[in-house]
Amino acid sequence: MCGIIGYIGDRQAQSRLLKGLARLEYRGYDSCGIAVVTGGVEVYKDTVRVEALGKASPRFKGTMGIGHTRWATHGAPSQVNAHPHLDCTGNIAVVHNGVINNYQELRNQLTSEGHNFTSETDTEVIPHLIEKYYDGNLMGALQAALSDIEGSYAIIVLMTDEPKLVVAKKDSPLIIGLGDRENYIASDVPAILDYTDRVIYLEDGDIGVVTRNDIRIERDGIEVDREEHKVLWTVEEAQKAGYEHFFLKEIHEQPKVIRNTLGDYTRDAELVVDLAGIRDTGIESMLMIACGTSFHAALVGKYIMEELLKIPVRVEIASEFNYYSHTLVKNIALAIIQSGETADTLKAMKRLREAGCQVIAITNVVGSTASRIASQTIYTRAGPEISVAATKTFMAQLMVLYWLVMSYSKADARRLTSLLMELRQLPSKVQQVLDNETEIIEYAKYLSKYEDVFFIGRGINYPIALEGALKLKEISYIHAEGYAAGELKHGPFALLGSNTPVIAIVARDNTYEAMLTNIKEIKARGSPLIALAEEGNEAIEELADSIITVPRVDTIFSPVVNIVALQLLAYYTAKERGCPIDFPRNLAKSVTVE
Ligand code: F6R
Repeated sequence: MCGIIGYIGDRQAQSRLLKGLARLEYRGYDSCGIAVVTGGVEVYKDTVRVEALGKASPRFKGTMGIGHTRWATHGAPSQVNAHPHLDCTGNIAVVHNGVINNYQELRNQLTSEGHNFTSETDTEVIPHLIEKYYDGNLMGALQAALSDIEGSYAIIVLMTDEPKLVVAKKDSPLIIGLGDRENYIASDVPAILDYTDRVIYLEDGDIGVVTRNDIRIERDGIEVDREEHKVLWTVEEAQKAGYEHFFLKEIHEQPKVIRNTLGDYTRDAELVVDLAGIRDTGIESMLMIACGTSFHAALVGKYIMEELLKIPVRVEIASEFNYYSHTLVKNIALAIIQSGETADTLKAMKRLREAGCQVIAITNVVGSTASRIASQTIYTRAGPEISVAATKTFMAQLMVLYWLVMSYSKADARRLTSLLMELRQLPSKVQQVLDNETEIIEYAKYLSKYEDVFFIGRGINYPIALEGALKLKEISYIHAEGYAAGELKHGPFALLGSNTPVIAIVARDNTYEAMLTNIKEIKARGSPLIALAEEGNEAIEELADSIITVPRVDTIFSPVVNIVALQLLAYYTAKERGCPIDFPRNLAKSVTVE
C-alpha cells in the first residue's frame, strides 16, 4: 500500500526522501514522487521504480520535502495521479495514504468554488481544502480540512515559506523518526532506519507540527505526549545481505527467527501472556481472526489448540467476519497480524473489543495499530520482513502459537517434555531443509513449466497446502490451489491430468493411510505427483513420481519443516520464470484498505 516519507533538517532532503522511498518499496506501489521546497515547491513524480525516479529527477536543492509510493485506489497508476498533489497556487503539497470516502462530494463543492483538479485521485481534495482554509496557520488549515473529510488518512503537508511539516493520522500508520537537528516522518520504520532508531508512533486523531528541532502533537486542540520508542530492528536486517532477493534471505533467516521468538518466551516465563488473566480459570474456547498467510498460521493454531488444549477453536477470515451477523464471542480472541496494520483484521479487532472481548494481538511490529487496539500484544521476533510475500513472520507466528499452547496445555507431562525438546531442535531441523536446497531447485525447474498446480494436505498440514499454494501463486504467477486431500474427488478431479501436477504433503499420523489412497487416485488420473514426506518413507518413494524429503519431526511440528520446503519450491519456481519475486504485481505488504 502507499508509503510516505517526510524530511526536515539541515541536509539535502532529496537524497533522504529517495532512500526512504526505496526502503518503502516493499509495501507495494505503482508510481512514486517527491516534492522539495527550494523557494517554491518542486515536484517530480512518475509511474516508475524509485531508482528510476531518482535518476530522472532534476536535483532539487532544499532541506524540507515529502515523498510517496502510490498503490492505486482512486484513478489508474499514472504520472498525474501519483503523489505529491498540489493546490491551485502550487505552494501546498500533500502526500496521503488512506481513502477519502466523501471525496467526490468535496471535489464537486471545491470545483464550484473555482478550484481546478488535475488528477482522478481522492487525495487531491486535501491540498485544495487546505488552500481554502489557510489564513496564515497551516496546522489550523489542515485541522479544518480534516473536519470535512470522512475516511482514513496518514498525511504530510508542506508549504512554501512555512519551515515545518504538518502531519495527521487516522486509521493509516504514521511515525515520526527523531534525529539530531532533523526529523523524519514515515509510514513505517524501515524508511528511516538508516538515520535513526528513535521513533514516536502517532495515534488516531493526532495532528502535529514537525520542525527541524521540535515536534508538537495535538489531539482535539490540546497538546499530547507521545512516548519515544527505541527500534530494535537494525538497518542490516532490512538489507539483502548478499542474497539475490529478500524472499530467499528471509527463508534462510528462519532458524534464527525460531530461536529469537522462542528464546524470548522460554527465557522468561513472565513474558508468556497470561491470556487476559485466565490462567487460573482456563480457556474454554478460542476465536482466531486473520487474513492471508496469517490466516493459515491461525488454522495451524487451531489444530495445535484442539490437540493440546482440548478446546473448540473457531478461525475466521477477518474480512468475512466483519460482514456477516453472528454471535460475537465475549471472552477471548487472538488476532494474528504480522504488519499490525491490515485494515480487515483491525476492524474485526475493534468489533470484538466493543463487544467486550479480550483481544490478544500476535504481531511483528512494535507500536503498530494492532498493538494499540489489542488488550494485550505478543510480539514475534522475525525482524523486518521486506519481501511482500510472508515467510519468516509466518514461522514466528507458528512459534508463538506453539509456545502459547504448550504453556497452557493439559497434555501429560511426558508428552509435553518431549514436545518441548523437539521445539528446541526445530532450528536445526529447518536448517536441514535449507541444506536440501539443491534438490528443491531441480523440482522447481520442473514445476515452472506448468500453469496449474494442486497442493494437498490433511489435518495439520491442510493449512500448509493452502500456504504452499499461496506462496507459489503470488510469486510465480502459476495458478495454484490448496486443498484438503479428501476433497479433490468432490470436484477438482475434473481438472487432473498430465498438465496438472499435484504436490502431496504426507504426514506420518492418523491421516497417512488415507493420503496414500488419495495419491493412488491422483496417479490413476495421470497427474504428475510430487510428494513432500519425511526421509526414509519407502511406500511414498514407490508411489510418487518424485519426493522432496524433510527431516522427521513430531507431526505437530511437521508444518514447520514442510512450509520451508514449499517456500523454497515457490522461490526457485518463480526465479526460473523470471518473476519480480520480492514485489509481485498488484500486491502490497501492508493492506491498509478494506
Ligand atoms: C502473503 C501475505 C499476505 C498477508 C496478509 C495479512 O504472502 O503476506 O497474505 O499474510 O495480507 O497480513 P497481516 O498478517 O499483516 O495481517
